[in-house]
Amino acid sequence: MIQETSQVMAENIQQLADSSVRIDGDRLWDSILELGRIGAYYDDHLKLEGVNRKSLTDDDKLGRDLVVSWMKAAGLDVQIDQMGNILGRREGLDAEAAPVMAASHIDTVATAGAFDGCLGVLGAIEVIRALNDTKLATRRPIVIAAFTEEEGVRFGTDMLGSAVAAGRVSLEHAYALTDDAGLRFGDELERIGYKGTKDVRLDPPHAYVECHIEQGPILAKAGLKLGVVTGVQGISWQKITFRGRAAHAGATPTELRIDAGLAAARLTCRLREMVDSGRYGQLRATVGHIATSPGLPSVVPDLTEMTIDMRTPDDNHMAQAEKDIQDFLEELKLQQPGLGVEALRMAKTNQVPFDESVQKAIAESAEELGLDYMYIRSGAGHDAQEIAAITPTAMIFIPGEYDGISHNPREYSTPEACTNGINALAVTMVKLANEE
Ligand code: GLV
Ligand code: MN
Ligand code: MN
Repeated sequence: MIQETSQVMAENIQQLADSSVRIDGDRLWDSILELGRIGAYYDDHLKLEGVNRKSLTDDDKLGRDLVVSWMKAAGLDVQIDQMGNILGRREGLDAEAAPVMAASHIDTVATAGAFDGCLGVLGAIEVIRALNDTKLATRRPIVIAAFTEEEGVRFGTDMLGSAVAAGRVSLEHAYALTDDAGLRFGDELERIGYKGTKDVRLDPPHAYVECHIEQGPILAKAGLKLGVVTGVQGISWQKITFRGRAAHAGATPTELRIDAGLAAARLTCRLREMVDSGRYGQLRATVGHIATSPGLPSVVPDLTEMTIDMRTPDDNHMAQAEKDIQDFLEELKLQQPGLGVEALRMAKTNQVPFDESVQKAIAESAEELGLDYMYIRSGAGHDAQEIAAITPTAMIFIPGEYDGISHNPREYSTPEACTNGINALAVTMVKLANEE
């Protein structure tokens, strides 16, 4: 059946695609909903259904299987690389030319909706389907992809699959990363059957484009349909561990305590003070994980582990913020003799500007489609920022409802917004793929 699809395509494709290419918005929407049912859970707090499909879990495998089946049904030559990145290739009229690439991710955080990352992957598949429907060719080949562990919430480093593909992180380093249960990335990749053999290092494509939900309120507030993304802000993730001394909550005088929980609370408040001070520009800081041990009401905590996520578009502000945190940790040690403090770097990326020629191709596509747009910087991290190191890259954003909330089951973009974004992706991909 898949063989047949490829043959039919090869026989019938004669004409070069142009900016009149349009996707089937209903088919795209059905795909988004179908993938979103894999890993679905009921969020008791919000009384809503959400998605929990963290990377290399059984549900991630099921999601991958579905995506691979859709890629094959669209006639793509599908390969899995050593990081489990899924790549599907559609030949161009010039098979030797460097391909145009469109990708994103299908792994999710534990409290996700159906759109983050999935829109970009399923949208790229929909572009291929639309080209097949009209039997249209492109000069350059097209490669679409789903990158592994973009979220970084299971193995602690975000954009992992694309970072290895682009050469910033080594394969050995990625394989050795462990999750909270001590399971190794490399073993889990093998367990779900996605440790592929294709060389993970990407030959630089001609260009890369990714469509994604904005994950913020800006486009909706401005009443605009699309964002042409100019770049991504810097991201710093650290794990901080405080070691104190377990002691009786009632019988231990305050001056005899070494309270690891108190240190974590002080650091959390300090981060917010830093943000509010304005001294670090547009710094955002989040303590998303705090765990105390032994975690009992009657015991002073002897161990606290917490994560710090900081974001800013200014690398100097990031450097200053990281230094000031380091100094504050030293201060905490001085204030509390016996307190142990460890800081472990989990992930760090500088701000990444996107390519102006790819931004221009996106802006022209938006104009041709009659979709009002603005230039916007991304608040979130994306695979595009890794691929930008090896090829001209930019992104398309679509607005989200409810202030663009994301990493939350309430995340929602309308069918119309998704169709607009993927039509813009289609026109942009065709433009880039027909370039000399
Ligand atoms: C990726 O989703 C991020 O945390 O920005
Ligand atoms: Mn994403
Ligand atoms: Mn995300």
